[in-house]
Amino acid sequence: YWNVDNYVDDLIDCPQVREAALLLRANELIAFPTETVYGLGGNGLVDETVEKIYTAKGRPSDNPLILHIADRGQLVDIVEYVPPLAEALMEAFWPGPLTLVLPKKPGVAMRASAGLDTVAVRMPDHPVADALIRAAGVPVAAPSANVSGRPSPTTGRHVQEDLDGRIAGILDGGPTGIGVESTVVDTTGDVPLILRPGGITAEQIAEIIGEVAVDPGLLGDGSAAPRSPGMKYRHYAPEGEMWLVEEPDMRIRLVQAVERAKQEGRRVGVLTTEESTTAYPGADVVLACGQRADLISVARQLYDVLRRFDQEQVDVIFSETFPYTGVGAAVMNRLVKAAGGKYL
Ligand code: TXA
Ligand code: MG
Repeated sequence: YWNVDNYVDDLIDCPQVREAALLLRANELIAFPTETVYGLGGNGLVDETVEKIYTAKGRPSDNPLILHIADRGQLVDIVEYVPPLAEALMEAFWPGPLTLVLPKKPGVAMRASAGLDTVAVRMPDHPVADALIRAAGVPVAAPSANVSGRPSPTTGRHVQEDLDGRIAGILDGGPTGIGVESTVVDTTGDVPLILRPGGITAEQIAEIIGEVAVDPGLLGDGSAAPRSPGMKYRHYAPEGEMWLVEEPDMRIRLVQAVERAKQEGRRVGVLTTEESTTAYPGADVVLACGQRADLISVARQLYDVLRRFDQEQVDVIFSETFPYTGVGAAVMNRLVKAAGGKYL
């Protein structure tokens, strides 16, 4: 476990980063910070290493990984060509929380893409990730560094809780900034298609390209299957059951739900924001997730708050809901999945 949070010189010279990069080159697994969540990295060009990632996480092997790169020159080994759409998005948002699904180079052995003819690539905007990928000199395959089914990690401690003893090392670069994963966009068609909402918003993409589509499978109403293999899994399932409460009368209905659950003798959690922590005095555990007026702050704290509910061992969580605007779309996508789609 290496803390590189306070390292002042160029991180490429940081001994801990160098050691981690050597381990990556030796096909070991290293967890590292990105601007979104911590990743569990391995050499993306070696099938056996990628296999180890799936094992460490307990991840279904039909769910492909993202290859992380530090400069665009690395694309030549991975992708067949870069569609103009992708070019424009890279120009606008790389490095940053945007993953592009691109045509995979044939002949490249890549367990990472789970047998698809496309590959997901992203260039993280984080000094530790950047230095690590540069020092390793290979594309780094990395899913989020949590055990499958747990909230994604936004601190080195979260990674340690989940993966201690299963991987060669953890680079702790402090809490991540964005807090939800990157936006996954398919760029192989005419219009950018959002497969997973994340740190770059649909509005931002539309501003650059003029139009943007959202995978209808994301609605989760059963009418269409998600195009991104990962989106069909429940993901984080809290130990207690979870219910979402919408407007109108969100707070009134939430207070009533808390009362009913208390009468049934259950230990009750409420997910709210800083403005409303005193609105639910009947609940056992009230956790604030940022400020409602600032959805970016909600995204940043979401996974930590979900992990704390599990520690608190509540029987049921009632959660406020948020507008689908901006990064709210990513927050709501994760909350709906955590609740298994259950609305009060
Ligand atoms: O912010 C992030 O993206 C973090 C950090 C570590 O970079 N990584 C991350 O990876 O969230 P992971 O493995 O948890 O999620 C990758 C998502 C999954 O939903 C997967 O199904 C999708 O990307 N994906 C990967 N390759 C794909 C492909 N070729 N076509 C469609 N979806 C793909
Ligand atoms: Mg994940």
